[in-house]
Formats: sequence, structure tokens, C-alpha cells
Amino acid sequence: MKELSFFGNYKVKIVFTKEIFPLLKEKNQREKICITDENLYRIYGDRLEEIFGKNIFRISPGEKSKNMGVVLKILEFLCEKRVSRRGKIFGFGGGVVGDITGFVSGIYKRGIEFSLIPTSLISFVDSSIGGKCGINLKNCGKNYVGLFNHPSEIFFDFSLLSTLPQKEVNNGLFELIKYGFVLEKSILETFEGNLTQSELKKLIKISIQKKISVVIEDEKEMGIRKVLNFGHTFGHALEKVSNYSLYSHGEAVGLGMIYALILGKNLNITDEEYLKRGIYLIKKINGLKLKRKHRWENLLNSMSMDKKVDRENSLLFVLTPTPGNFLFKEINDFTILKKTYGEFLKWI
Ligand SMILES: NC(=O)c1ccc[n+]([C@@H]2O[C@H](COP(=O)([O-])OP(=O)(O)OC[C@H]3O[C@@H](n4cnc5c(N)ncnc54)[C@H](O)[C@@H]3O)[C@@H](O)[C@H]2O)c1
Repeated sequence: MKELSFFGNYKVKIVFTKEIFPLLKEKNQREKICITDENLYRIYGDRLEEIFGKNIFRISPGEKSKNMGVVLKILEFLCEKRVSRRGKIFGFGGGVVGDITGFVSGIYKRGIEFSLIPTSLISFVDSSIGGKCGINLKNCGKNYVGLFNHPSEIFFDFSLLSTLPQKEVNNGLFELIKYGFVLEKSILETFEGNLTQSELKKLIKISIQKKISVVIEDEKEMGIRKVLNFGHTFGHALEKVSNYSLYSHGEAVGLGMIYALILGKNLNITDEEYLKRGIYLIKKINGLKLKRKHRWENLLNSMSMDKKVDRENSLLFVLTPTPGNFLFKEINDFTILKKTYGEFLKWI
């Protein structure tokens, strides 16, 4: 077992292991509860039961579970199991399980300890790190209710990714390439070729390091951490206008990054060559398509409702002037956003 610990403002134990199940079994915790989803339970249920017995709460897979009803059921489950403040919750799953686990752990009895075992590519490279957790609010938007709450440990076991369906691998690749556009240009270079398993592993580790260093610098997203929202302003709006049913989070971010590249070009920030290369690399992941022509007014309305908007009548976009670099642009002239949407429809 290799253990890397990062201290400073971000004091979370990062563990890389090849034997997650024996490792969890060894953990000498009196009250251990696991939160996972039905898909993962189907694959790993026997192994999890060896560790957690009947203390396993299963949610339905996917975004729709990020709601208060599910949170309430988990809180009641914890109460029925008489979990005390010394108990500990283990979130075994992707970003949805992780976001819910962190939220529930933060509010049950005013907070109990939790650990994360990411199982999807998105949770490896992004969601497990940084302490953001929460749920969606139906008429308002993504992750509208939540906390900054860090796990005590994150266990990364690459072998868990072997059961991830290709569609979900692609979703993670969108979040991974994001780091290439705004923080680490070598990631884009690797995406030019055919990504091998060992290259992917290397990119995952780079992303984990990048995310941790951004979070250490700006835990509460008052400044530089906003860079990780590249593609998310438009992406979240797409997710919301389609009621979280047409696009996965990764696909929405992929489309959002294309929108941000075109917006950059329209603002003379991103040059034509970089725009074309960027769109090519994003589409190379899975031939991304817009599933419906969404009404511009609805998209704009959703972007304005996003919880990341902190000033009335202006929207903050993360743009990329050159590979691996970023800048923030506050936009209050919405005509350029509408024009960009028109061009976006032609590009995809
Ligand atoms: N907290 C953060 O900082 C942060 C950052 C990025 C994304 N997110 C959130 O993460 C969520 C998206 O993450 P996600 O794509 O991991 O979602 P997810 O948890 O729904 O997982 C995607 C699908 O993959 C399946 N799956 C996961 N691991 C598997 C495995 N090893 N084998 C087989 N199937 C597996 C799940 O059952 C699910 O069907 C969104 O809700 C997004 O808002 C949060």
C-alpha cells in the first residue's frame, strides 16, 4: 500500500492501494456504514457485505438520487442503526455516491467522519477531492444545497475502474481533458494519440495532483478554484434544461467546453487553430452530440440561476487563451452569448 499525505489547508489522507477490500476489512472501526449504489452493489455486494454486513445503504444509480428524499432516507437508516458520533461512513461509488455521502456525513448529528472510495473515472479525477458535496434542488439547479466537508481518507484502487462501462469512462475523460485545457497542456498532447491504459493511469495521477493543489490554494472557491468550472457554466445549464435526463454530467461538461472555446474565439481570446484542435479532441472522446436544440432563453435563464453566479446581470466564464492556461471573464453583454450559441449549434 502506498500512502501519500497532503497537509496544509487540505489535510486528507490519500491512499493508493491494489487491495481495497482487505484494507477496508482491516479498518478497526466499531460502527462502519457503507453508502453505495445498486449497480456497484450488483458487482461488489458480496465483498462489501464481508466488511459492512447489513450496514449498507444502496441508492438508485445516477443523478436523480441527488435529492433531499434520498438524504432523508439515509439519515433515518443511520438513526435506525444507532450510529453514534464515533461512527464512520464509507462512500463506495462515483460522484453521486460521494456527493451524497459527504453531505449526509456533514449533517448527521452535526457531522461524523467519512471516507471515500471512488469507483468512477469522474470521482477519481475530480469529485472525490476537494470537499464539495451536496444535492440538486429541482427548480434551482445542480448542487444547490451542500457543504464543504472533507473526508478523512480517499482510497484509490485502479482495479475498481475495470468494471466501469465504456460510456462512464468517456464521461470521466471529459473531466480529465478539462485539466489539459486550463492547467496542464501535456494532457492535451496525450489525448492526441490513442490513450493506453498506462497513459490513462498517469493522467489520472496528474489530475489528482492538480486538483489537490488548486484546492489547497483556494478551498472555498473564492478565486483560482473557479478554474475547475471550465465548461460547467453552459454544461450545468444543459443538464438542467433537460431535467438531468438527456446528458450525463461528463457529456454536458464536454459540450460546455466546446461552448467556452467558441466564446473565447468570439472574444479574441482563443485563436482559430486552438479552437479547432480543442473541439476535435473533445469530440474524439465519443463523438459528442447535442440531443435536442434547446431554447436559448431557457439556457440563459438556467445559467443565471446557477449557484456559481454571484453578481446580478453578469455571468462568469472560464476561458482558455492557450493550452494549459486560463482566464476568467465576466460577461454582461448577453448578445455575445447568444451569438456563440448559434455558432455552437453549427459546430456540433
Ligand atoms: N463534488 C465535486 O467536486 C464534484 C466534481 C465533479 C462532479 N461531481 C458530481 O459527480 C457526479 C457525476 O459523477 P459520476 O459520473 O461518477 O456519477 P455516478 O456516481 O452516477 O456514476 C456513474 C455511473 O457509473 C456507475 N459506476 C460507478 N463506478 C462503477 C464501477 N467501478 N463499475 C461499474 N459501474 C460503476 C454508477 O453506478 C453510475 O451508474 C455528478 O453528480 C456531479 O455533479 C462532483
